[in-house]
Amino acid sequence: MHPVTYAEPAEPQPEIPLLGGDVTEGVVRVGDTVRRPVGPNAPLVHALLRHLEEVGFAGAPRFLGVDAAGREVLTFVPGEVAGRPRPEWVADEDRLASVGRLVRDYDEAVAGFTVPEGVRPGAGASERPGMPPAPHYPAELVGHMDYTPDNIVFRDGRAAALIDFDLAKPVARVEEPLNAMLHWAPLGDPADADPPLRGLDVPRRCRILADAYGMSGTDRSRLVEVAVLRARRSWFSMRQLAEERGGGWARMWDEGVGDRIKRREAWLERNGAALEAVLTAP
Ligand SMILES: Nc1ncnc2c1ncn2[C@@H]1O[C@H](COP(=O)(O)OP(=O)(O)O)[C@@H](O)[C@H]1O
Ligand SMILES: [Mg+2]
Repeated sequence: MHPVTYAEPAEPQPEIPLLGGDVTEGVVRVGDTVRRPVGPNAPLVHALLRHLEEVGFAGAPRFLGVDAAGREVLTFVPGEVAGRPRPEWVADEDRLASVGRLVRDYDEAVAGFTVPEGVRPGAGASERPGMPPAPHYPAELVGHMDYTPDNIVFRDGRAAALIDFDLAKPVARVEEPLNAMLHWAPLGDPADADPPLRGLDVPRRCRILADAYGMSGTDRSRLVEVAVLRARRSWFSMRQLAEERGGGWARMWDEGVGDRIKRREAWLERNGAALEAVLTAP
């Protein structure tokens, strides 16, 4: 599958660096487009973005092709993205519910998409000996799986679009609202939460996300189990990505992401039963 070459407009436009992402170096805005280096998961991401365009999903950038410098060209999505330091509004419960709805809308829009033949989802770390097992629930859809505040564009105080599909991969549905909870509840040791998200009622915020998403009863009762398995596995794969890819991954590891994941696992061991009770209460 060869992506089309992007036809530049006649008037050259300046490149404006876009900050706020964790990993990708060299993301720039040019006119009403964004240019990003083509990552290892690009074959899947480009097909996925094309699918979202075909089904008319408004909450994602359009993929326009590859420019002369070999970068992917996406439409610039106007709106507000939480940078760092995090704004107070990341704690707002109406915004939180809108995140749950947007994740649900994406999961509905992606339901008819299958990984094209010959494309290998290349988001994560390769399977290595000693890697803790992934949850055994079968994949149901190609999840976005990176719902950080930096990857959601808000308009009029509501989550309006997703960006940064680099970690997209086939997952069980429960993994999608779980990923949103990790970043927005946030699910982890309160000491590790960004200041505006500290001291909040985490199970209550998970419940708001679950309800806005419309999680099934089955997925609600799977959530804690999957969260613990994911924490164990992501400690291992974050370390591996830091070793194999360096760059932003190594920086995150050096900044203590591994310890944060361990503290999240410990928090889940202490609070999992209470969380599950809140999620499954009538
Ligand atoms: N299509 C887009 N429309 C608007 N802003 C974007 C778009 N793509 C990226 N950005 C901005 O650039 C930042 C970094 O880009 P992102 O694709 O998330 O890279 P990273 O992999 O580093 O997280 C985002 O947090 C967002 O603010
Ligand atoms: Mg990002």
